[in-house]
Amino acid sequence: MNDPVRVTVTGAAGQVAYSLLFSIASGDMLGDDQPVILQLLDIPETFSVLEGVSMELEDAAYPLLAGVTLHDDAERAFAGADYALLVGAKPRGPGMERKDLLEDNAAIFVANGQALEAVASHDVRVVVVGNPANTNALIVLGNAPRLAAHQVTAMTRLDHNRALAQLARHTGEAVARIRRLTVWGNHSATLYPDLSHALVGDRAAVELASPEWRTAQFEPAVQQRGAAVIKARGKSSAGSAAQAIVDHMRDWVLGTPPDEWVSMSVLSDGSYGIAEGIFYSFPCRCANGRFEIVQGLSIDEMSRQRMTATEQELLDERSVVAHLLP
Ligand code: NAD
Ligand code: LMR
Repeated sequence: MNDPVRVTVTGAAGQVAYSLLFSIASGDMLGDDQPVILQLLDIPETFSVLEGVSMELEDAAYPLLAGVTLHDDAERAFAGADYALLVGAKPRGPGMERKDLLEDNAAIFVANGQALEAVASHDVRVVVVGNPANTNALIVLGNAPRLAAHQVTAMTRLDHNRALAQLARHTGEAVARIRRLTVWGNHSATLYPDLSHALVGDRAAVELASPEWRTAQFEPAVQQRGAAVIKARGKSSAGSAAQAIVDHMRDWVLGTPPDEWVSMSVLSDGSYGIAEGIFYSFPCRCANGRFEIVQGLSIDEMSRQRMTATEQELLDERSVVAHLLP
C-alpha cells in the first residue's frame, strides 16, 4: 500500500460530486493500492449537505478512504493537495451555452487558482470541470504562477466518451474495440469529434462511418449531447461526468493503454498550428504521470476548418476574461 494522497474536490455538495466521491474512495481513479484523503470544499450554505455526504462516505467503509475533511475555505481545502478536481461552479440551464456561465463562474476559478498557488502540493495535478471548463482552466493557471502548464488540464473526456459511444452504436461494435478517436478544441458546441484516425478493431472508422453520417448525425450528436441531457433530465449530466473525471485522472496518473490516446484539454503549445495560450483539447498519451500531445497526425481540409472554428471560440472566450489573466 502507498501512503495516502490528498484529493481536493470542489463543489462537493453538488450532483457531479455525489457520483464522483464514492468512485474515488473505492479506488477507481487512482488504483486499489492508493489510499486517499478527501478534502471537500463547498460554500457555507451547503454545509449540512456536505456533512451528509461525509456520513455516507464513512458508512461505505472503504478500505482506501484514509480520511475526509469538510471545508468552506479554499486555502484549507487545497492544503497539501496532490490532486484537485475543480467541479464547484454554476451549471447551465436549458437554452444556455456553457460560455454564458463565464461571468458568473470566473471569480470562482480566480480564487481556486490563488488557493492552489498558496497551499497545494508542489506537483499538484488539476482538472477543471466547472464550465466553461477550458477557459476556467486558463484562469486557474493564470492565477497560480507557481504551477507549470503540465499540471493543469480541463476535461473533454466526457465528449470523448460520448463520441466512442455514438460510434459503437452506429457500427454495432463494442466501445472497447474503438481506439484513436480525438475530440479537438473547446468543451462546447464547436468541439470537433474526429474519426479520421480512429480504428474499430483493425478497420479504419471512416470505412464504417460515411461522411454524411459523420457531418449530419455524429458531430451534432456529440456537440449537443450535454444540452440533450439537460432537456431530458432537467439537470446537466452528473453520472457520466463523474465517470469521465475518473477516466481522465486515472489515465493521466496511471497511463493510457498501449497504442491508444485520449482527449484532454491542455495549454496549447502551438501543436497542429493551434494558437498558444488557450486550453484546447488534443489527442494525448500519458505515461509516468505526464501527458504528451500526440504529434504528426494528418489533418485534412474539413478537419482544419472545424479545428479553426473551435480555436476561434476559445480565443474569443479568452478575450472576455483577459482582465483576470496575467
Ligand atoms: P451543482 O449545482 O449540482 O453543484 C455545484 C456545486 O458547486 C454546488 O454544491 C455549489 O454550492 C458549489 N459551489 C458554488 N460555488 C462554489 C465555490 N466558490 N467553491 C466551491 N463550491 C462551490 O452542479 P453540477 O451539476 O455538480 O455541475 C458542476 C459544474 O460542472 C457546472 O459548471 C457544470 O456545468 C460542470 N460540468 C462540466 C462537465 C464537463 O464535461 N466539463 C460535465 C458536467 C458538469
Ligand atoms: C456536459 O457536457 O454534460 C456538461 O458540460 C454540462 C453541460 O452544461 O452540458
